[in-house]
Amino acid sequence: MTDVASKPSAPGDERPVLTNRQGHPVYDNQNQRTVGARGPATLENYQFLEKISHFDRERIPERVVHARGAVAYGYFEAYGKLGDEPIAQYTRAKLFQEAGKRTDLAIRFSTVIGGRDSSEAARDPRGFAIKFYTEDGNWDLVGNNLAVFFIRDAIKFPDVIHSLKPDPVTFRQEPARIFDFMSQTPEAMHMLVNLFSPRGIPADYRHQQGFGVNTYKWVNAEGVTHLVKYHWMPKQGVKSLTEADAAVIQGQDLGHASKDLYEAIERGDYPEWELLVQVMSDDEHPELDFDPLDDTKVWPENEFPARPVGKMVLNANVKNFFTENEQIAFGTGVLVDGLDFSDDKMLVGRTFSYSDTQRYRVGPNYLQLPVNQPKGARVATNQQGGQMQYFVDQVGENPHVNYEPSITGGLREATYPTHDEQGPEIVGRLTRKRIPRTNDYKQAGQRYQLLEQWEKDDLVANFVALIGQAARAVQERMVWHFLLVDDELGLRVGEGLGIGPDDVRHLEPLASQTLTPEDEERLANLG
Ligand code: HEM
Repeated sequence: MTDVASKPSAPGDERPVLTNRQGHPVYDNQNQRTVGARGPATLENYQFLEKISHFDRERIPERVVHARGAVAYGYFEAYGKLGDEPIAQYTRAKLFQEAGKRTDLAIRFSTVIGGRDSSEAARDPRGFAIKFYTEDGNWDLVGNNLAVFFIRDAIKFPDVIHSLKPDPVTFRQEPARIFDFMSQTPEAMHMLVNLFSPRGIPADYRHQQGFGVNTYKWVNAEGVTHLVKYHWMPKQGVKSLTEADAAVIQGQDLGHASKDLYEAIERGDYPEWELLVQVMSDDEHPELDFDPLDDTKVWPENEFPARPVGKMVLNANVKNFFTENEQIAFGTGVLVDGLDFSDDKMLVGRTFSYSDTQRYRVGPNYLQLPVNQPKGARVATNQQGGQMQYFVDQVGENPHVNYEPSITGGLREATYPTHDEQGPEIVGRLTRKRIPRTNDYKQAGQRYQLLEQWEKDDLVANFVALIGQAARAVQERMVWHFLLVDDELGLRVGEGLGIGPDDVRHLEPLASQTLTPEDEERLANLG
């Protein structure tokens, strides 16, 4: 037998030579070092042990949610205005100011519940997370395609996700568990009407909307704040799948949406979305029948028009899945000057959760990885050490000073661009209470009424098929909720399940809910 190491390279073979991570050339990548051709193997087999032990560690924990996704790159181009008004009136964030100004970005589309290799035709919200590499550092806008969410308080997030994830015993996603939880969660009705309609299975990542979902703030040069909501509208149009369409697609390909996005960009058919923003003055808005900080609600567009501020174009694909998709890390805390948090109770929980999970999932130095580093801004910190520190962040002139304050060198604090304190003053007592204006049914009903007939039919069929697998008490409670959402929806789902208004009339409101006077009236005349 020929010894591979002694083979001369083929003439004209210009390919780079394989090495190990120590820079040693690899002469034989086919055979371990053994005593004689038949073994035994030896323990000083450095090259083999390094190769196999690195392989043993190839996987990092997948994201606890949104494990499957597709990343692309592109740019955001500002219009310099909010509709017809100068945008500086509302925000001083630099990326929005000048018409034509471009900011590089990365986007990750995802499904939520399935694992890293799961189907992209699943009925599931789609993640829509964007990292803008601005000159003031990174801004992440981490949203979804359905505009609202299941819950309004971050403390319920592990529960809603557990109900949607596989059963801890059978490891199957079980509709009985999902609707058990949802039947006790009236604020989820708006999201459920979206998710179980065809919008719950977007045709692919290019043909879906994106929304910031949570309420944020904009801050102008005078320190005046406004509440805002973000909307991304695809120039490609919106396309959705029915359960039957999705079954055919996923029978052939679990990754059709990643493929579609990758191939469109490769052929130069660059997808675009326009960014529109709704703005409200920064106060409680007692005149509204919902709370502007409630992420189970949308803001009516006739009162709060969604006005264009710029567009996003995606024009490049990743070169490597692991370094640019598995390791990219988004978070709602990642804001730049001119943008701020609101007091939305989901937003604060999210803001802790993202960087916490990323320190575990990727490692404490995840922000030193190329895909996560700011590109347009400097990084100068006194943070040091930790697993996988790759380099020392920029330090002051005296490298001995890794603390602040110091009079012998080191880094100094920045001066506030304009105002340091912003927004209304808040006084309150520490408490645990739900928000007063929950209004869980009205917008869910309006959403149902806006669906086209085929979408209503699909929604009802999906509810009947899935809720039918739950316990009778869960079915009854879901019909009760749907009758409060919209008579027709409640009657149709009830008919499919063999449950009429008389079967649910005896149910009391849940302890976790506050009914509006309109809800009370509907309850009195149920069905
Ligand atoms: C991913 C937590 C609500 C959109 C994640 C991850 C966590 C998380 C831990 C994994 C991040 C990673 O491993 O890098 C939470 C919590 C929430 C919440 C605690 C509520 C309190 C939401 C909502 C939305 C959303 C309301 C939509 C507006 C996303 C997206 C990703 C994600 C798009 C994927 C980011 C990526 O592509 O890497 N979330 N989430 N989440 N979440 Fe949430």
